[in-house]
Amino acid sequence: MLTFSKIKETTDFLEQEINQGRSIGFVPTMGALHEGHLELMRRAKKENDLLVVSIFVNPIQFNKSEDLEKYPRNLEADKKLLETVGCNVLFSPETEEMYPEEVNEKYDFWQLETVMEGAHRPGHFNGVAIVVKKLFEIVKPQRAYFGEKDFQQLAIIQKLVEMKKMPVEIVPCPIVREADGLAMSSRNARLTPEERTIAPRIFEILQYAKSKKDSICTGPMKQMVINMFEANEDFLLEYFEIADDKNLQAVTSWGKGEGIMGFVALQLGNVRLIDNVRFI
Ligand code: PAJ
Repeated sequence: MLTFSKIKETTDFLEQEINQGRSIGFVPTMGALHEGHLELMRRAKKENDLLVVSIFVNPIQFNKSEDLEKYPRNLEADKKLLETVGCNVLFSPETEEMYPEEVNEKYDFWQLETVMEGAHRPGHFNGVAIVVKKLFEIVKPQRAYFGEKDFQQLAIIQKLVEMKKMPVEIVPCPIVREADGLAMSSRNARLTPEERTIAPRIFEILQYAKSKKDSICTGPMKQMVINMFEANEDFLLEYFEIADDKNLQAVTSWGKGEGIMGFVALQLGNVRLIDNVRFI
């Protein structure tokens, strides 16, 4: 595995590979890698000639400085995991390399960013879009792999690629879960052992809701799920929404039954967790 920290050396190397006709599958990450990340990478490796991974804890997508400071970092362990999935190139720059000057690009994702994560984390998706666009320009992937764990992020990236007419195929990948159902996340490492035993309840509630879909309308369903989260005093619920999987706007009925999902964000102790479930 080649490891680069500079933009120019990465671009120079990858452009040579592209000129020789090799396809690049790219997985952007913030490190603290787990099985969820590794699944994206295995797929990218299988579907492309070269697997390129970036590890960069992007400061401009954190809306709380405490969250940025506490974000788990573990580059040496990450490199070992990258070897196990056959990563060809790791790009892991310092902040100064990515942002030598202040960035003030502003994206407008319209209705996609006014709901859920966009509403609760001001500036977050703008920071994600800036870094992903920059990473795409550096790596020039044919395909880039994103997890449905961050479903709204995936929708934003798809919109970004469409708006900027970027020549990259975005490949959505299913959520990878722990055996007890908890969606894998780098932030799970920050849960206390007790919180870790409580966290699987999130997916349990979402699964229960899904099982009741045919007998409850969306309004009462939303209220039922909110009540279930709020009944657990360890959870501080930020939102639960039932929304369309394309425009991410809340729905008021199951309608003709096309593409409806449930999305949750909550705080468990000091850790913010998100998850989602497909109803239809
Ligand atoms: P990060 O949280 O490290 O996630 C990197 C990629 O892994 C994202 O596409 C995310 O959706 C995916 N992922 C994380 N947990 C997953 C799981 N349990 N199952 C499936 N996929 C999972 O998302 C980011 O980093 C950043 O916002 C980034 C896109 C790198 C921009 O900074």
